[in-house]
Amino acid sequence: MIANRKDDHVRFAAEQQRHLDGHNQFDDVSFVHHALAGIDRSDVSLTTRFGGIEWPVPLCINAMTGGSVKTGLINRDLAIAARETGVPIATGSMSAYFADASVADTFSVMRRENPDGFIMANVNATASVERARRAIDLLRADALQIHLNTIQETVMPEGDRSFSSWGPRIEEIVAGVDVPVIVKEVGFGLSRETLSRLRDMGVRVADVAGRGGTNFARIENDRRDRADYSFLNGWGQSTPACLLDARGVGIPVLASGGVRHPLDVVRGLALGASAAGVSGLFLKTVLDGGVPALISLISGWLDQLEALMTALGARTPADLTRCDVLVHGGLREFCADRGID
Ligand code: FNR
Repeated sequence: MIANRKDDHVRFAAEQQRHLDGHNQFDDVSFVHHALAGIDRSDVSLTTRFGGIEWPVPLCINAMTGGSVKTGLINRDLAIAARETGVPIATGSMSAYFADASVADTFSVMRRENPDGFIMANVNATASVERARRAIDLLRADALQIHLNTIQETVMPEGDRSFSSWGPRIEEIVAGVDVPVIVKEVGFGLSRETLSRLRDMGVRVADVAGRGGTNFARIENDRRDRADYSFLNGWGQSTPACLLDARGVGIPVLASGGVRHPLDVVRGLALGASAAGVSGLFLKTVLDGGVPALISLISGWLDQLEALMTALGARTPADLTRCDVLVHGGLREFCADRGID
């Protein structure tokens, strides 16, 4: 059952990438061009530090999969690409492993292929501390992601309908594991109010994972006989909206959800994110072109990231927050509605 679901998610998510219309709310963010702002490329460093974590680059392959034969092979390929490019990587939800230990290898393959890389385990917010520790141990994980996905569960035919225990569970996990905990959405975004609660629970980092890319309302509707919940297909806040909303909350944030190219990464960093994450696009790339295509895409992005930072005068990813950024359109309206300057 879980294995079928994991295969469905991969199939529908890759298909969705082929039909994205190319626009999302990152397009409402632009930089004021300063023609003399540039610095020397040799002065630029991509290293980023947040919540006690250090990454060599401000980009990761975000949570996706594992739990079936097919998805184990995908995890192997993603892990090889992560190893070859030096980007951190997350596994998909490890619930399938808790339900059936025989699929352990579809997750642990990531550590085998990428022995020295930064790897994040991933569990849902109902996981016990014991399960969270098992997930971390299996991967020798450097951090633990906990995903929040109420809307996905709601649309999912076999989804959960009890969410009240999630907050207390997250607090238990934070207190009970010895790696940093990163709480993330799955494409509907994290509000300022949610981020404040996470900060108060001791969560080190939050990945806003907003609307604009992979859409799990659509995916779960596609998995139903009838798309009963299609009215939820536009739910949630976009990634740039979440980043603007997060200002001043006091928890480091990551930008994921709808990141399409290096300019979106730079936009996310300028809006205050410590790093960006990509799932659907990297999945489609590895499925269509194999490991070489993904290595080439990620290496190209890292090269272009450095080039953009050089032109913008940012020595570090954090320096990008000092750039002059303009906010237009629907994103500007969101800021007005939420009282954001
Ligand atoms: C996901 N995502 C996800 N997230 C998570 O925390 N646990 C999971 O198991 C999964 N599973 C999953 C499967 C597939 C096939 C995709 C494409 C994505 C969500 C992912 O981490 C991310 O938050 C969203 O996909 C939004 O980012 P993109 O795809 O727009 O870059």
